[in-house]
Amino acid sequence: MSNPTRSDQERIYKELFEKHKGTTMAVSSESPAHKRLRFGRITDIVAADNDFTIHDVGMGLADMYPFLKERFPEKRFVYSGTEILQEYVTASVERFPDLVFHHRDIADQAFADRYDYVVMSGVFHQRRGSSIRDWEAFAQNIIRNSFRMCRKGIAFNFISPFVDFYQTQVYYSNLPKLINFINDDLSRFFEIKHNYALFEFTVFVHTEEHVRSMYPEPEFAKYFKADR
Ligand SMILES: C[S@@+](CC[C@H](N)C(=O)[O-])C[C@H]1O[C@@H](n2cnc3c(N)ncnc32)[C@H](O)[C@@H]1O
Repeated sequence: MSNPTRSDQERIYKELFEKHKGTTMAVSSESPAHKRLRFGRITDIVAADNDFTIHDVGMGLADMYPFLKERFPEKRFVYSGTEILQEYVTASVERFPDLVFHHRDIADQAFADRYDYVVMSGVFHQRRGSSIRDWEAFAQNIIRNSFRMCRKGIAFNFISPFVDFYQTQVYYSNLPKLINFINDDLSRFFEIKHNYALFEFTVFVHTEEHVRSMYPEPEFAKYFKADR
């Protein structure tokens, strides 16, 4: 199924990029402090791992890469990303010529490359002209395909439904719907962090294989599917 939000998003991010080059608004982020807090919660997913691959879907200008290097100077990792906007891909390649960036749409399909972690930060916050129905379908498709492309887990964030006021172009997550989707389509092994300053929350979804590898005791075998 083709992604109905794509042309709208490409137009909006292209305008932002051209208007706000050199500032965090070039990828629609409010401030560097917001960004550090958001990236901090997302990258908690790699905290216990010292050697891993991580793929950033909707990476914008790949700002998560310098954040990861600064936060985890002792870890070995390979960072890469995917974007629908060619201008962001070109700018990211210029910024980090040794890294791999793909121009493709993961809402449309899962690709064959695999990573320990696939992350999405700020990708679901602003639906702008898209309907809630199209936005939720887009979010579920990109999350489902990202999960297929990970070995250990995925991390992403959404705006909370528990807010002080509403803005028309923002998407406020339907939490019960999201949790049912995660359990039914992805994995029952998930975490939700709704305990930091922003009006948002961060979700980790872990693959069954990865969680099972942490519980090798025979007493726990019955909590995992036998055929995997
Ligand atoms: C708010 S920006 C966040 C950029 C980056 N994650 C950051 O925090 O700096 C959201 C990004 O998601 C990208 N995006 C939207 N739909 C996408 C899709 N289907 N596949 C890949 N990227 C997508 C947009 O082009 C935009 O760059």
